[in-house]
Amino acid sequence: MKDVYILGIESSCDETSISIVKNGYIEIATTISTQMDTHALYGGVVPEIASRMHTENITLVLEDLLNKTNMNISQVDAIAVTYAPGLLGSLLVGIEFAKTLSLVYNKPLIAVHHISGHIFANNLVKKIEYPTIALIVSGGHTELVKMTSDYDFEVLGTTLDDAIGECFDKVARVLDLKYPGGPNIERLAKLGKNNYRLPIPMNNNELNFSFSGLKSSVINLVHNELQRGNKINKEDLACSFQTIAIDELIRKTHLAIKQTGIKRLIVAGGVSANSYLRDKLEELSKELNVDLSIPPLKYCTDNATMIACAAYPLYLKGEFTNLELNGKSQEYFLK
Ligand code: KG4
Ligand code: ZN
Repeated sequence: MKDVYILGIESSCDETSISIVKNGYIEIATTISTQMDTHALYGGVVPEIASRMHTENITLVLEDLLNKTNMNISQVDAIAVTYAPGLLGSLLVGIEFAKTLSLVYNKPLIAVHHISGHIFANNLVKKIEYPTIALIVSGGHTELVKMTSDYDFEVLGTTLDDAIGECFDKVARVLDLKYPGGPNIERLAKLGKNNYRLPIPMNNNELNFSFSGLKSSVINLVHNELQRGNKINKEDLACSFQTIAIDELIRKTHLAIKQTGIKRLIVAGGVSANSYLRDKLEELSKELNVDLSIPPLKYCTDNATMIACAAYPLYLKGEFTNLELNGKSQEYFLK
């Protein structure tokens, strides 16, 4: 079969990224321009600044990418872009750019859901085999999903309130940690001990998650201690929170594997960059003799490589979109 080259574009949050991937799993080259330092000045992503910076950066990102390859755009087979979810203004910068390339170079346009991108990043490690369990842990999603083929998703469990990444970010805020919260909690947790007693979320045998109770108890604990004039051991609190939150992900993943009998596990989303989670998943996979795939760190955080990977099965199915494609700030990835 002829090789398929897809140019992927990602601009849903604070990273402008473009990548070319061959046959859905071979990265030719990727460029990522991050705005993290700018948004850190404000304690979080400022949507207006994000979209302006995407606009300023996107052509430079493309130029840099093409300089790393000996390819030009006329040699790619399709243009793929993240259409949801994310900051609308940011998404639209990538979408309009993708539409322009599609029109000028007469290439099919493929709309990719950001979370599908995180899932199909696993193909960069090893071709996903089915059936598999997928643990999806991001700023907006916490899900255990059964996949029987590409884009065939069955939700086994989901969060009833906050997503795990959102919870990390909110706890980081109350601990006065800088944006982005998740990696900073992880850094602090490495210096602390699991000394604080926090409530175990959803202590039952269902596959759903709930993190808002845990989040609130950390926030209340901090406020109460401050009101009493007591000092908080931030390292210990970060460690205690991280332990209980991640252990809950592990416990439910264990249950999903036991309940389905599926011996394959893929992991997706920004929180999969967390080293405590990665270590615990390694342990779990050894204990249950499960084939585990977690993308390397550089593919866990936002990038366009994963978008080009996720576009490949859609390309093979001929699932193209047209120039009416619009951004959607919120859309569930399951059809
Ligand atoms: O998957 P992602 O890009 O989010 C969405 O697409 O929604 O992941 C971003 C989330 C943020 O909540 C961030 O704090 C969290 O992933 N995150 C981490 C780590 N790195 C990123 N959380 C815990 N530990 C990390 N090392
Ligand atoms: Zn993401």
